[in-house]
Amino acid sequence: GEYEFIISEKRGEGGCVGLVTLNRRKALNALCDGLMSELREALATFDSDPGVGAMVLTGSEKAFAAGADIAEMQPLTFQSCYSQQFLGNWDAISRITKPVIAAVNGYALGGGCEVAMVCDIIYAGEKAQFGQPEIALGTLPGGGGHSETHQSHREEPRHGDDRHRREDVGSRGTLARTNQQGLPTESLVDEAIQLGERISGFSKIAVAMCKEAVNAAEQLPLNEGLKYEKKLFYSSFATDDRREGMTAFLEKRTPQWADC
Ligand code: HXC
Repeated sequence: GEYEFIISEKRGEGGCVGLVTLNRRKALNALCDGLMSELREALATFDSDPGVGAMVLTGSEKAFAAGADIAEMQPLTFQSCYSQQFLGNWDAISRITKPVIAAVNGYALGGGCEVAMVCDIIYAGEKAQFGQPEIALGTLPGGGGHSETHQSHREEPRHGDDRHRREDVGSRGTLARTNQQGLPTESLVDEAIQLGERISGFSKIAVAMCKEAVNAAEQLPLNEGLKYEKKLFYSSFATDDRREGMTAFLEKRTPQWADC
């Protein structure tokens, strides 16, 4: 579809990767309500497209997103935030079932950092800057910043090299300060698309189950998370793709996955 604040296109082999580029340059991709509803719609459209296996979300070289739109927020009241569900579009992004890879160049601040963190994987460019500066505006992170920042410190192994370590709430950190290099700015989006292609080559239902298991493990106590994982693993034996995957291995051929 035609969007005002984002560009939505298919990339990768056979168009298997949905690429969403935040495109509100002059405001450093500040996440106004219009942008967030378009983002929600574009991701949901790719999520239900059987030809797409993963999504990449990116911004410009200067800014992934500099946060929620401060001009738009300035006149808000508690009553309007609450009754119009100000952050409803943020919540919707966390319900996408396919993997979303954030390719972050430049500023990822406030709500921009939170949107990146709600993605499954972050590819960070060498000049990426992550931070939650809301405190300077007399408010605080509201889209998961506290929980996610905490989590990324605690659960480093889960994110591995793909997801860089973020600074504490209230500061703005560069990758240099976290002793990580970051990827070259110019090739960042292409590398993220390549990862998206690789993910798209796997069984879609198996990938969706992986995402579900990772999200459950993140929220449940260890024993419950392990139980949830085991049940999903057993469930995979009810899928055509599980049979196909193992059969193809034994027959030394490439598996032919079901579409969805
Ligand atoms: C609205 C913004 C904006 C934002 C930048 N702009 N960030 N507009 N909301 N979050 C606009 C500026 O007003 C300016 O518009 C233009 O983008 C360029 O920004 P400059 O400040 O001139 O650029 P620069 O000097 O390079 O500084 C870049 C910056 C700074 C350090 C990123 O813009 C900045 O501090 N932005 C705010 C970051 C922030 O506090 N984010 C958290 C927001 S609160 P004009 O018209 O003057 O050219 C939040 C809450 C989330 O996100 C709640 C839950 C999801």
